[in-house]
Amino acid sequence: MMDDAHLPWIERYRPTTRKELVGNSAGIDGLLEWLLSWKNGYPNKRAALLIGPPGTGKTSSIGALANDLGYELVEFNASDKRNKDSIEKLVLRSAGQDTLDGSRRVILLDEVDGLSGTGDRGGVAAILKVIESSVHPIVMTANDPNSPRLKELLKRCIVIQFSLLDNEIVVKVLRRLVKENSVIVSQETIERVASISRGDLRAAISDLESIIEGKISEDELEARDTRTSVEQTLKRLFMTTEPAMARLIINQTDVNHDSLVLWFEENIHLHLGTSSELAHGLNSLSIADLYLGRIMRQQNWKLLAYAYDFLSSFIAASRTSTPYRRVTYSEPLWPLLVWKGQRKRGKGDELIRRISNIANISKSRAYDEYIRVIEVLIKANPKVKKDITQWLGIRESIFR
Ligand SMILES: Nc1ncnc2c1ncn2[C@@H]1O[C@H](COP(=O)(O)OP(=O)(O)OP(=O)(O)O)[C@@H](O)[C@H]1O
Ligand SMILES: [Mg+2]
Repeated sequence: MMDDAHLPWIERYRPTTRKELVGNSAGIDGLLEWLLSWKNGYPNKRAALLIGPPGTGKTSSIGALANDLGYELVEFNASDKRNKDSIEKLVLRSAGQDTLDGSRRVILLDEVDGLSGTGDRGGVAAILKVIESSVHPIVMTANDPNSPRLKELLKRCIVIQFSLLDNEIVVKVLRRLVKENSVIVSQETIERVASISRGDLRAAISDLESIIEGKISEDELEARDTRTSVEQTLKRLFMTTEPAMARLIINQTDVNHDSLVLWFEENIHLHLGTSSELAHGLNSLSIADLYLGRIMRQQNWKLLAYAYDFLSSFIAASRTSTPYRRVTYSEPLWPLLVWKGQRKRGKGDELIRRISNIANISKSRAYDEYIRVIEVLIKANPKVKKDITQWLGIRESIFR
């Protein structure tokens, strides 16, 4: 275990055996049974699809079970291999061949809902073809049960539903980790972390680690909560290239538009890899921003539908060639966030006014020169946030 010490906890404590998996036991046992049935010839359905919310153990389950059974695990991130050719070539090759020593292999196509998008019909067709002829069990995972791309796949797979983990289970895991690491964390903190995770064990473990390492304070946990839902929204939005699906995702999110625009601004380049995709995406984003500004100033809510379209469908549709891949999003920095948020809400620009008063410079210079510098400073060392707040004499609560 010493070797693992540098790994983030979510990896360090990734289950390697059935016993370490918590929750969803009926589903996991069903999966195990199906894998075992391969020992007696090909089962009726040669693929399994694990569907459920993030951080509930889908990817971990297949890893742990393969390990227990001594099956070799061959893993593909389905969303990285979007096009027909690569799926066919890579997966077909490993699915259609016996292993040299006759041992069993499990093929994992992780995150197949990343396949959604007009360009990927071939991707699903290719998978269906692989399933038909595979001599090894194929296991797929997905988050979104409504993804239209899964429709065909559902018919050809045994479907195993994963649910959010019960709060008590999450608490139990967190308590165990605290004990194993001989650290002191109050029961209250553990409960709070668990409750904010809402059954996503990955989020819970990662928050607990951050708190123990002092990376975030407990009070910041709530902000982390919105962060998770922003990240989910961005992830889902960039998984699809279908306008209707993108629009649905934006309609369903509980993240406010202002923060979405800022998060997009900060992260859109991660998904839009070519300059023309990026140009389209940024253009849609600035039109959305324009509409949102107008809506706030004129209280003209009729425009909201347009703003939403530009924020969702148009941005999603700008990704025409770069494949979806999982990325780590960066948080937009607070000075900009506060400044923009306040400007939009018409509350005035307290931050800029303070800087301009203290430094005795114009407001526009305060924005151009100081805000950016403060951003860089905070990025380099988050602790200066406090000093800056004190220097400006503003309440920290403003930045929430
Ligand atoms: N059921 C579980 N039992 C034990 N650990 C879990 C479980 N679910 C999640 N974890 C912890 O969270 C981490 C992430 O879990 P995992 O990758 O299996 O989630 P997932 O369901 O595949 O999520 P996603 O849909 O985002 O891919 C694991 O490495 C492990 O530390
Ligand atoms: Mg997974």
